[in-house]
Amino acid sequence: MKDTAPNPMLDVRDLHAFYGKSHVLRGVNLSVGRGEVAALLGRNGVGRSTTAKAIMGEVAPQGEVWFHGHNIAGQPSHRIAHLGLGYVPENRDIFPMMTVRQNLLLGLKDVNTPGRWQIEDMLEMFPNLKSRADTAAGVLSGGEKQMLTICRTLMGDPDLIIIDEPTEGLAPKIVTQVGALIAQIAQAGVSILLVEQKLSIALKIAQRVYVMGHGEIVYTGTPDDFRGREDIRREWLEV
Ligand SMILES: Nc1ncnc2c1ncn2[C@@H]1O[C@H](COP(=O)(O)OP(=O)(O)OP(=O)(O)O)[C@@H](O)[C@H]1O
Ligand SMILES: [Mg+2]
Repeated sequence: MKDTAPNPMLDVRDLHAFYGKSHVLRGVNLSVGRGEVAALLGRNGVGRSTTAKAIMGEVAPQGEVWFHGHNIAGQPSHRIAHLGLGYVPENRDIFPMMTVRQNLLLGLKDVNTPGRWQIEDMLEMFPNLKSRADTAAGVLSGGEKQMLTICRTLMGDPDLIIIDEPTEGLAPKIVTQVGALIAQIAQAGVSILLVEQKLSIALKIAQRVYVMGHGEIVYTGTPDDFRGREDIRREWLEV
């Protein structure tokens, strides 16, 4: 499989990033096609979150980040979001004193133009959020907070979302629920770049698999091809 999706929606070319003198991204190439789910796998500390942050303009990028035909590398994060690139960072950042509904409203891109996701539909889709719509978000469980941050990002009506380790630290049952939510979003036509540690979830949802090692992509393939690549798993993923 080539590292460029046919007709890519997001196309990252030779992306570099630094923390001080530390050269963390060393020429990342990856792309996500229209309606495609791509999984970005890799061991802790290889630079997966930094890739997400550099794409989103939260870490200064060098290189090219093509989205909808524009090179957005280095543009301010809010502008990138406005172009339709959503981002769910690792930290499940919700506003604890506000209700679930208010948190969702904060995700709206434009209060006057309805996007493809409505609050009521979203609460309907995820019943454990519905029963808590008017509860302070701070009391939600880790899994519920994760679903809330994903749903809040969807309220901004993105064409593609980058989701960073959504299942980390969640109980197996909740992992399955979050996985189902992500699959549902993909079915609705939103492209996804999914940073994941759990192969079971990633391989079930993705059509394209990237493995990152030391700041660059070391493997690109389909989930089927990846399943046969024990060498890649051993060298780049197992701990
Ligand atoms: N703000 C920062 N300042 C300095 N170094 C950082 C910073 N953030 C990350 N790093 C370092 O950059 C490297 C890549 O970090 P990154 O967060 O991208 O890893 P990751 O692949 O997402 O792994 P994990 O999520 O398991 O930490 C790591 O060595 C990390 O210690
Ligand atoms: Mg990370």
